[in-house]
Amino acid sequence: MAPMDKVVSLAKRRGFIFPSSEIYGGLNGAWDYGPLGAELKRNIKEAWWKDMILSHDETATMSSAPSSFAMVGLDSAILMNPKVWEASGHVGGFHDPMVDCRETKGRYRADQLVIFQLIAEGSHLPGAGFKDLLFASPGEAGKTPNAELLMPHKKRIKAIRKKLEMDSEFQIKPIENALTKDALRAKIFAPGASKPGTLTAPRSFELMLKTKVGALEDKSSVAYLRPETAQGIFVNFKNVCDTTRVKLPFGIGQIGKAFRNEINPRNFTFRSREFEQMEIEFFCKPGDSDQWYKYWCDRRLQWYLDLGIDPSKLHLREHSSRELAHYATGCADIEYSFPFGISELEGIANRTDFDLGQHMKASGKDLRYFDDTETDKEKRRYLPHVVEPSAGVDRATLAFLCDAYVEDEVGSEQRIVMKLHPRIAPIKTAVFPLVKKDGMPEKAMAIYRSLSKNFNSFYDEKGAIGRRYRRQDEAGTPFCITVDGDSISDNTVTVRDRDTCEQLRLPAEELVAYIDNQLTH
Ligand code: GAP
Repeated sequence: MAPMDKVVSLAKRRGFIFPSSEIYGGLNGAWDYGPLGAELKRNIKEAWWKDMILSHDETATMSSAPSSFAMVGLDSAILMNPKVWEASGHVGGFHDPMVDCRETKGRYRADQLVIFQLIAEGSHLPGAGFKDLLFASPGEAGKTPNAELLMPHKKRIKAIRKKLEMDSEFQIKPIENALTKDALRAKIFAPGASKPGTLTAPRSFELMLKTKVGALEDKSSVAYLRPETAQGIFVNFKNVCDTTRVKLPFGIGQIGKAFRNEINPRNFTFRSREFEQMEIEFFCKPGDSDQWYKYWCDRRLQWYLDLGIDPSKLHLREHSSRELAHYATGCADIEYSFPFGISELEGIANRTDFDLGQHMKASGKDLRYFDDTETDKEKRRYLPHVVEPSAGVDRATLAFLCDAYVEDEVGSEQRIVMKLHPRIAPIKTAVFPLVKKDGMPEKAMAIYRSLSKNFNSFYDEKGAIGRRYRRQDEAGTPFCITVDGDSISDNTVTVRDRDTCEQLRLPAEELVAYIDNQLTH
């Protein structure tokens, strides 16, 4: 099985992630988190909230923050006044160009089609067949080009980009323009097509999901499911300033659902139509935004590393100046080497005063900050600049799942173990009686009950002890506690470490302190 298939299969088998409404055949781009997945995702969100909002002071002093700062949280509505999306540029601007293959009925985002140009040129790249090179799963239409495999052919791809006047694979517009040319499309082989020229010209695909609010169904009842949580923060900027009296620099963080009508939901939960974001809008004095941008890039990268992500798989990709939006002065992606290729986990952007400026213009409300530390009276009111670290909860969850998946051997036995950081592991402790007699189940149950008050715990008395360990290894449970014959006489238990399989013996009354210490260090 390919590495990604193994993760998907374990996620389904152990109840991390299920297809949404599976008994009806599912719904493309929507996923449900099962009992283990719900805990994992919740732990990731809680770690983010604690580290970024609640205890940011600790991290600020430990790290190289340019100055002290405040952080507050927000929970804004998914449904907002549609004028928000006009001001933000999402209505009218938030669309992807797509092309369809008339023969295979495959649908592709135009930016994926740079790859097809390689094919159009008849370039059979050396090594594997070109489909293996180009797509994560050979033959599957609409998959992300496999960035890692394309690496050796960088020079060639660069030449093709140049020909199409593209600066980057991620710039859609020039590709879209190129694909409007019939002559070019006539030469392109779509994946799986028997002949060239089966692609339609690009068409705009509205990315916002529309709904209707209220009893009437007319133009005035149109509303959108928010495509990002960020705008909820911008439109509440004044409310937060007025009610909390926070001073610059400060950040507002929010976790919540977002919806995009993606053309091609793909790579398991990586690109979904319903997903969750963890976003910060960090407001600062205009002259300080470069320093804060740098700070947030480092801080956010470190967060994934502190939660155990393999450093060799995590990258910070700084966008070239030509890739930047017209208002942005800096943008970087935190990327992870997923089994299907290197892809974005989080974006960090220096957005200047663009968003607040847009909302001030469109709403007619003065959104300027009053800076009472400014000595020059004329300069006391201004729009702060904004640094935005914007992360996807589902993508982080998927990266943690892929990173944790390990197949190894214990003695002569093969096992699958999810080496999740103890902070985010769904179950922290599992308690087993060695056998179902001699008072062991009763003692184990009493220990389980006391641990459950502190940590998500699991009790299991069924089957051979080795099997019970294996099941917890797959769930990513860092500590398994076994009650044996000695436990009855001396009140000690064994604690088995998930990763090393080493066991130590501890008095039962020390368990909570021991595990607590392991979870916080
Ligand atoms: N406010 C800025 C913003 O929304 P974005 O790069 O479009 O920026 C930020 O999205 C993050 O949200 C991405 O880095 C990704 O983690 C997550 N995200 C975006 N679209 C997604 C999708 N269709 N499925 C899952 N996660 C998505």
